[in-house]
Amino acid sequence: MTHTLPPGTRDPDARPLRPVDADRFRRALAVHAAGVVVITAQSEGTPVGLTATSFSSVSLNPPLVSFYVDRSSTTWPRLRAADHFAVNVLTADQAELARRFARKGIDRFAAPTRWRPGPLGAPLLLDVSAHLICLPYESIDVGDHILVVGLVTEAEVHEPGHPLIYQRGRFGRFLPQT
Ligand SMILES: Cc1cc2nc3c(=O)[nH]c(=O)nc-3n(C[C@H](O)[C@H](O)[C@H](O)COP(=O)(O)O)c2cc1C
Repeated sequence: MTHTLPPGTRDPDARPLRPVDADRFRRALAVHAAGVVVITAQSEGTPVGLTATSFSSVSLNPPLVSFYVDRSSTTWPRLRAADHFAVNVLTADQAELARRFARKGIDRFAAPTRWRPGPLGAPLLLDVSAHLICLPYESIDVGDHILVVGLVTEAEVHEPGHPLIYQRGRFGRFLPQT
């Protein structure tokens, strides 16, 4: 490809483009802080859910949100089969709940998890900052993950909503600047 670069710009062709190594990639991404949600659904009569930090807003009109799920997730096939899902935005006090919804081989909805059925049936975790009820809008294979986009049909916000944050493998709190 021939192109003209502005003066002082590094020529991207000067070095072969190759993926960053996995360890460096993980370390760089680990410093990025993210809020924590639990995605839940009712699938064939059974509640399912998993912890995710890949949650993001996508669009205002229509109201869309997204998250990425690992292709190897055993929760995903059951989430995909559900006709809607809920996003539970966790509070700073809910790190144990986040760990629980990332753990394999347990009933994530058994006590001490506290939840209730939502308006369309998806389980809603109690004491969270917000609930979003979503209809599946799009899911796209991207690398080793699946990008899941949901159309938000209902949103409930519970004040004051101090968020749970995840960074460098640890849970923590958000400290606003005054
Ligand atoms: C803080 C945190 C964030 C996570 N974020 C994601 C995520 O965005 N996408 C994902 O697929 N898994 C994520 N996981 C992993 C899942 O919560 C869970 O461990 C995994 O789905 C378990 O596998 P299963 O689906 O086979 O039960 C996260 C785990 C933790 C602890």
